[in-house]
Amino acid sequence: MTTPVRLERDGDIAVIVIDNPPINAGSAAVRAGLLAAIDTLAHDAALQAGVIIGAGKTFIAGSDLKEFGQPLQDPQLPAVIAAIEACGKPVVAALHGAALGGGYELALGCDYRIAAPDTMVGLPEVTLGIIPGAGGTQRLPRLVGLPKAIALICSGERVAASEALALGLIDAVASGDLRQQAVASARRRNGARSLVRDRSAPCCTPAELAAAGAAALRAGRERPAVRAAIEAVGQAAQADIDQGLAAERAMFQQLRLSVEAKALRHLFFAERASARHAALAGVAPRPVELIAVLGAGTMGAGITIAALDAGYRVLLVEQDPAALERGGSNIDALYADRVQRGRLSAESAAQRLGKLERSLDWNRLAAADLVIEAVFEDLAVKQQVFARLDAVMRRGAILASNTSYLDLDAIAGATARPQDVVGLHFFSPANVMRLLEVVRGAATAPDVLATGLAVGQRLRKLPILTGNAFGFIGNRVYAAYRRQCEFLLEEGAYPEQVDAALEAFGFAMGPFAVADMSGLDIAWRMRQSQAATRDPHARYVDIPDRLCEAGRLGRKTGAGYYRYEPGAKARQVDPVVRDVIDQSRAARHLAPQALDDAAIVRRALLAMVNEAALLLAEGVAGHAADVDLVLINGYGFPRWEGGPVFWARERGRAALERDLDWLALVSGAGFVRGDAGVLLQRED
Ligand code: NAI
Repeated sequence: MTTPVRLERDGDIAVIVIDNPPINAGSAAVRAGLLAAIDTLAHDAALQAGVIIGAGKTFIAGSDLKEFGQPLQDPQLPAVIAAIEACGKPVVAALHGAALGGGYELALGCDYRIAAPDTMVGLPEVTLGIIPGAGGTQRLPRLVGLPKAIALICSGERVAASEALALGLIDAVASGDLRQQAVASARRRNGARSLVRDRSAPCCTPAELAAAGAAALRAGRERPAVRAAIEAVGQAAQADIDQGLAAERAMFQQLRLSVEAKALRHLFFAERASARHAALAGVAPRPVELIAVLGAGTMGAGITIAALDAGYRVLLVEQDPAALERGGSNIDALYADRVQRGRLSAESAAQRLGKLERSLDWNRLAAADLVIEAVFEDLAVKQQVFARLDAVMRRGAILASNTSYLDLDAIAGATARPQDVVGLHFFSPANVMRLLEVVRGAATAPDVLATGLAVGQRLRKLPILTGNAFGFIGNRVYAAYRRQCEFLLEEGAYPEQVDAALEAFGFAMGPFAVADMSGLDIAWRMRQSQAATRDPHARYVDIPDRLCEAGRLGRKTGAGYYRYEPGAKARQVDPVVRDVIDQSRAARHLAPQALDDAAIVRRALLAMVNEAALLLAEGVAGHAADVDLVLINGYGFPRWEGGPVFWARERGRAALERDLDWLALVSGAGFVRGDAGVLLQRED
């Protein structure tokens, strides 16, 4: 049997090579192999020091997360690190690629850390709902001080080698061959040890510690793992290291079995699964070097920035000189702001902007490999634009639309190459939001879809494949959720109660506050355009129409579901809205019922779950967990709850079926009940 760890001898130095492709995950077999190699180092008189290094493209990039939901197998990582510390000979950690989580904790247990310039180090455990459990919270403060350790551990930030050196996270950056330099460094130590555990944490004042803790807690939305991490790092100042290590391990063990940690692991695996599509296996994307963006409005400018940040050359084309000027100066202003805040060097900003060409000339589009259309949301306009693009773009170029609601096939039908047309639905602000829906039209070629996904990844987005259904995945699930919240208004709740309940659940904003921010008129216009085809027997809440008719279009008019004082950010409850709601209930002879917060949240979540089931049954979403990724990365669903599908799975089949029956009953006529079974099949 091959072992994922081997010991190679370089004279009197033991080079311990971890070889567990693809990312050298710190599995049970790796831990056992390390323990055996350290034992050899300790007992072989011909060896005077050791080096631990990764084979392939990385050091240990992280632990094997699959193990975290089950009883942990021995040997566990703390025992491996304890063996290094007790082995009597110096050990050098030679890092490259990623040394994250358990990988970096292992390095912290060594005497010296040398890293290749491409290395990223960090302790991202908190982002998985746990804390470092193998000494990270005790050893890191001994290297960088308590406040910095709190900031790094609570954010889960990954730090590049040069910054890691400046902070003291590593001791050296290798300038040439990493292995040779690590071996030389191990030999130079002449048997002397310099373990992190033997240092004391640099002291700081209680006020500094409290400030670091408060800032981390705020930024980390007061999640249990953040709280525990602060407490554990605090122990490094007070307790003997072995007591601190024991306390840390106990907290880690408790957190790893929490529902929150399970939810975050679910998302971690869901992201990886979302990139796998059986139908696209082995399909090579088309090469893309020059991206054209058509339309320099809100979305066009954001998409341009995202593409420049990813290193693409970009051609921004407009029809309106004033709009080009405005969009262009928005882009310039964003880079100037980043430079001013120290987030980007002036050279990098200039280099990125140097790759942008702004033009009013459509003929320039002939050079582009991919055009992303972001013009007005109007089918006739888009069809006209696509017919023109068809005439000017080179053969094999990809024509993408950023439409939110329009039928991609109707847009593609305006061209003679529907196989080259795809939807790339960005979210606003497009340079910030991670979600990207990649929309498959009826004729879209597999390599065009593969290109959409590949470009999305290069843009550092989370690309999710979706079918061409009204609203795709995100807007469709969100619309079902909002409709259910409108039912709640009719049945007895007021907007402020619904918003408060869902914000307490963890949504960044409740649905009515969101509606006010986006403007109530968009949905109003859409309802008007669908009025003729709507099922006349289906339940229809007229409250938003009444608000729009009264000129209450949301924040932009100073009033919507709430009232907004000029210049003030806060929303205010408005008695006029209550009157509108009361009248609407009275007109339908509905007696208001008392709805508690738990019932509100349950209704809202079930509405999303039901819509997710419908989307899956229709084949619009490929993986059930994609719905979770979309809601979390595009719509403010709280990450630590794992998404509606995770929530549904936690409830179990029987309870879920009962819940959906109940939802169908309370939702009334026109409600289509989904089949819970499709959500529970774990294809991912
Ligand atoms: P916008 O109104 O800010 O910008 C549209 C721009 O397109 C304008 O500058 C206009 O001059 C230009 N334009 C119109 N016709 C053109 C043509 N024939 N050739 C070249 N340029 C032309 O609109 P926004 O908000 O940027 O939206 C654009 C698209 O993105 C729409 O399809 C919209 O549904 C979609 N979208 C918008 C989101 C948002 O939050 N604003 C989110 C996701 C998608």
